[in-house]
Amino acid sequence: MYARPRRLRRTQIIRNLVSETKLDKDMFIYPYFVIPGKHFKEPIESMPGISHFSLDELLKDIEVGLKFGVNKILLFGVGNEKTEDASSAYAEKSIVVETLKELNDKFGDNLFVVTDVCICAYTTHGHCGLLKEGSVDNDSSLQVISQMALAHAEAGASMVAPSDMMDGRVGAIRETLDKNNLTETGIMSYSVKYASSYYGPFREAADSSPGKGDRKSYQMDFRNSREALREAELDEEEGADILMVKPALAYLDIIKEIKQISTLPVACYNVSGEYSMVKAAASAGFVDEKEIVMENMYAFSRAGADIIISYHTRDILEKGWL
Ligand code: PBG
Ligand code: ZN
Repeated sequence: MYARPRRLRRTQIIRNLVSETKLDKDMFIYPYFVIPGKHFKEPIESMPGISHFSLDELLKDIEVGLKFGVNKILLFGVGNEKTEDASSAYAEKSIVVETLKELNDKFGDNLFVVTDVCICAYTTHGHCGLLKEGSVDNDSSLQVISQMALAHAEAGASMVAPSDMMDGRVGAIRETLDKNNLTETGIMSYSVKYASSYYGPFREAADSSPGKGDRKSYQMDFRNSREALREAELDEEEGADILMVKPALAYLDIIKEIKQISTLPVACYNVSGEYSMVKAAASAGFVDEKEIVMENMYAFSRAGADIIISYHTRDILEKGWL
């Protein structure tokens, strides 16, 4: 026997020497939920360790995170007025717009702020597009989604991240931003977003569950992967700067395929359900939290993710798990 793969596994040093996959603190983006009001830091029950923050508390928390290198965040606005036409999504006083202005004043270019652009938390029916005769209407939704992206860009978002899965939204947003001289604001597209039960805890956190029906007429069917390539190609053509795959853990094959067909950076979203499952199993003592979190993160990187959006980010950087 000449070939002995175990030679390269003997000590930690040699294992590190030959490891193919590296993780870096610069790869991580941390999601935040911001709510109206003052002095709120309310734990989200379905997502242990994650809270709703009012703006004042958010600023404090970000300041602490920055010390550990948490300098890229994904912002969600919760607790807005809900209407049939989602008009509060792009209102001058929306919580996200207000937050963006404050974050820019306080942190400037030291903080990179991506905003989730979707109307489900702003509609009475909870769908990611406008309803017309009971079904989600693509083209009229593009208008509202573009206006929401514009409001965020004008308030200083570094990038906007459309998560609605309407056809043509990346192109519509790009056109709207460019017309308004916001050519520098990037688009991180939720290109390949599957209709998934892994969003369960988030919908409680964001109060964005559809009242009736599900999201299967716009989010992707998890039985398909060739369609994912088509979605990614379209977004690239329409001007996306970063392509995202979501969820991440059950979709490593998709991350790998998108990485192969595109030269754009590929992000993956390690979503709420994936997070809460790990937290629940860890708190029951069934798994070691640090070990299992890092195994998951390396899996994303090994599959080809350049960027990882994860609720574990704060723990990973603050506790030095890298
Ligand atoms: C809004 C949106 C959702 C998530 C991100 N943006 C929920 C959904 O589409 O139902 C999920 C994030 C997570 O589960 O962590 N469209
Ligand atoms: Zn939505």
